[in-house]
Amino acid sequence: MRAMRAFQDEGLIGHIGISTVTPDQLARARDVAPVVCVQNMYNIVQRGDDAMIDALAEDGIAYVPYFPLGGFSPLQSEGLNGVATRLGTSAQQVALAWLLQRSPNILPIPGTSRRSHLRQNIAAASLVLPTEELRLLNGLAGAR
Ligand SMILES: NC(=O)c1ccc[n+]([C@@H]2O[C@H](COP(=O)([O-])OP(=O)(O)OC[C@H]3O[C@@H](n4cnc5c(N)ncnc54)[C@H](OP(=O)(O)O)[C@@H]3O)[C@@H](O)[C@H]2O)c1
Repeated sequence: MRAMRAFQDEGLIGHIGISTVTPDQLARARDVAPVVCVQNMYNIVQRGDDAMIDALAEDGIAYVPYFPLGGFSPLQSEGLNGVATRLGTSAQQVALAWLLQRSPNILPIPGTSRRSHLRQNIAAASLVLPTEELRLLNGLAGAR
């Protein structure tokens, strides 16, 4: 962080983001230089960063969840599939819509090698999850 701070002071970089950090590491990094975004693993069933996300939102710092679709372990959940079926969409689209509705500072970065999936993932930004379905989805992490 001290090196990044020096680069920033020299005008070589504009902003600093950090990745795969614990709350303690985040605090120590912020003691050295302003952090504009944090990229950590987070998705609808892996929510270890819930408290961090809320704290970052209060400070206007972006949170970039990697593996938003589970990464190497694709999301598998009957509850998620049920919501997708009822809404006439895919589980992946529901998972992305859930992230976008979770907090305004969340910027999901789904990876794909298919144009059809890219289109679906972009369309997920317009999917509004009804309150009842949201309640069910919010309980998925505990139900796993
Ligand atoms: N900072 C870090 O340490 C770190 C670590 C890991 C990853 N990342 C970053 O996080 C981003 C996402 O990671 P990721 O791509 O590994 O995980 P991911 O986005 O959670 O999952 C990607 C997987 O989901 C599938 N997929 C994507 N859209 C889909 C859809 N609409 N329907 C069905 N399947 C779909 C993809 O298959 P298809 O190719 O068939 O679509 C691929 O197998 C990347 O930019 C990566 O570089 C960062």
